[in-house]
Amino acid sequence: MRKILVTSALPYANGPIHLGHMVEYIQTDIWARFQRLRGNECLYLCGDDAHGTPIMLSANQQGISPEELTATIKVQHQEDFAAFAVEFDNFHTTHSDENRELVADIYKALSANGDIERRVIAQAYDPVKEMFLPDRFVKGECPCCGATDQYGDNCEVCGATYAPCELKNPISVVSGATPIQKESEHLFFRLDKYGDMLKQWIESEHVQPEVANKLNEWFSLGLKQWDISRDAPYFGFAIPGEKDKYFYVWLDAPVGYIASFKNLASRQKELDFDVYWKAESEVELYHFVGKDIIYFHALFWPAVLTGAGLRKPTKVFAHGFLTVNGQKMSKSRGTFIKARDYLEHLNPEYLRYYFAAKLNSSIDDIDLNFEDFMLRVNSDLVGKVVNIASRCAGFINKKFAGMLSATLDDQDLWQQFVAASDKIADLYETLEYSHAVREIMALADKANQYIDQKKPWVLAKEEGREQEVQDICTMGINLFRILMIYLKPILPQMAKEVELFLNVEPLLWQDLEQPLLNHKIEKFKPLMQRVDPDSVSALVDI
Ligand code: 2FM
Ligand code: ZN
Repeated sequence: MRKILVTSALPYANGPIHLGHMVEYIQTDIWARFQRLRGNECLYLCGDDAHGTPIMLSANQQGISPEELTATIKVQHQEDFAAFAVEFDNFHTTHSDENRELVADIYKALSANGDIERRVIAQAYDPVKEMFLPDRFVKGECPCCGATDQYGDNCEVCGATYAPCELKNPISVVSGATPIQKESEHLFFRLDKYGDMLKQWIESEHVQPEVANKLNEWFSLGLKQWDISRDAPYFGFAIPGEKDKYFYVWLDAPVGYIASFKNLASRQKELDFDVYWKAESEVELYHFVGKDIIYFHALFWPAVLTGAGLRKPTKVFAHGFLTVNGQKMSKSRGTFIKARDYLEHLNPEYLRYYFAAKLNSSIDDIDLNFEDFMLRVNSDLVGKVVNIASRCAGFINKKFAGMLSATLDDQDLWQQFVAASDKIADLYETLEYSHAVREIMALADKANQYIDQKKPWVLAKEEGREQEVQDICTMGINLFRILMIYLKPILPQMAKEVELFLNVEPLLWQDLEQPLLNHKIEKFKPLMQRVDPDSVSALVDI
């Protein structure tokens, strides 16, 4: 049995979960469920990312404290994830005692290694609000093409990148005042010291090949020291021994993964910190992240962990972004869909299935096209998979008092279904979900063809052919059962209903080996409805 720990990126605690977020949580949840189904021990940890300037300002604007804001949002996030059947072993927050202690310990270890340096830097400062401004909080005209209303780090019109002080006619997004340049001392992490280690690490299959190529571009530019401090006012952890200085949110965010573990371990005593986090740990650790934050997870994070004497991730899995009907998610185009709005109109398992049918191990973006979404769900899940059970269950329920036969009608076909197990497992393991789904649907086609050929509804009208009808339908139900084992990581709710219908204990991958025979099943209830086009319209028109 493997011991595995997986994480999804910690969402910022100042906004709702949207369908773009859900790609990652569904991708990770499917993987974690797959591992558990296979009999591995797999912990799935997450939590909210509670610190930083945007969260501080958003709380200010609402006239509440950042603690209040982040506590409210955390509850909403947990409700949304639960509704999509994303099943964390723990959902914590970076604004927690565990995280405060861990970050302080890690900082102490880095300081002791000589990994922290101090340097005075000049930055944009809002003289009205009396605060330093992150790049995204300064706007002005692009120094290259003159486009107006551009952020302080790059131009969305011509693509140029620059420093906020290069913008023409800059303003502070917070107060509208003209920012000034102000100096202050910052603390830097000596990322450059870890260059050789990181280069080797990245080349040893800890990231996808396309990610390794991207990261190599960074190496060729040379690794810079990383600014890990921010001046007050800031919502975060005060840096021990410093006055009015806080840890940058991106230092304590990934430490939040460990804090979530510690918090869980305080309730589950068998979880030993050293077993999971010491440098020599043999537990597998996987971080699922969006491609935009790969450098934090594949450069800064492994370096910080190494400096602190802790283990590095086994793998960092990056995924692409979500587009909706071919467009970037945008509020003005109506393609920015909140998880909550989706849930008010559509079954969450439709989305889990659709994302699985599109996801693979690359960092390419995936598109949610609602026409295609309806087609896939209706034809695959309702038309193929559920159809197998509904075609067979009626006869078993009505004619045989729910009893399955004692033998399988077509041993070869059964064997074909079982034999697909290794391939499908391998596809889940390597995040090739869309390929796994294709394999499973090809089997569903075979099961339907079998029933089409055997025509139990014709035999049922003929005298003396009861046994055949029972055998054929038993075969159909057994093929359906295998398909549901294969689909269980993707469709956990439907799998639960199937377990009730089949009158069995929670299905495990190893249950494939034994068919269900001489067994009484329950009355069949529709397991999934077709997608209602009106509900889709109602959602998209919000
Ligand atoms: O990009 C984001 O949404 C960050 N809140 C992710 C943090 S992941 C981890 F480092 F905490
Ligand atoms: Zn420009």
